[in-house]
Amino acid sequence: MGGYVVALDAADEGEILNLAVAPGGRRIGLGRALVEAILGVLKDRDVSHVYLEVRESNAPARALYAAQGFREVGRREAYYRRPVEDAIVLRHDA
Ligand SMILES: CC(C)(COP(=O)(O)OP(=O)(O)OC[C@H]1O[C@@H](n2cnc3c(N)ncnc32)[C@H](O)[C@@H]1OP(=O)(O)O)[C@@H](O)C(=O)NCCC(=O)NCCS
Repeated sequence: MGGYVVALDAADEGEILNLAVAPGGRRIGLGRALVEAILGVLKDRDVSHVYLEVRESNAPARALYAAQGFREVGRREAYYRRPVEDAIVLRHDA
């Protein structure tokens, strides 16, 4: 049971590239803890805006990010493959 988050930063902008929790360990707060932790790390690195893309249909991730204060700022049409789907672009401001 575990999970991971991958992010990068450049100047005052950060991006969460990937986030996942093992299926057997979901819904016990690990995803939220990973997002809170990475937002703290990025803030300490003077990042003031954090972006990410999420599949439009990914309700669990979208609920998690919304609860953490991310808001929708854009859409990338047909961004994903297998299956083709739009990405929703989210932003968190420190
Ligand atoms: C998205 C993901 C990381 C969430 O991890 P998690 O450890 O289960 O999340 P948490 O237990 O911390 O849940 C935090 C909040 O997210 C939301 N959430 C999580 N799973 C949910 C689900 N299946 N349905 C609805 N909301 C959900 C809820 O608001 C939840 O708060 P609550 O438990 O108090 O209701 C996990 O489902 C996952 O790894 N999914 C596959 C990979 C993925 O989609 N990554 C994101 C790519 S952008």
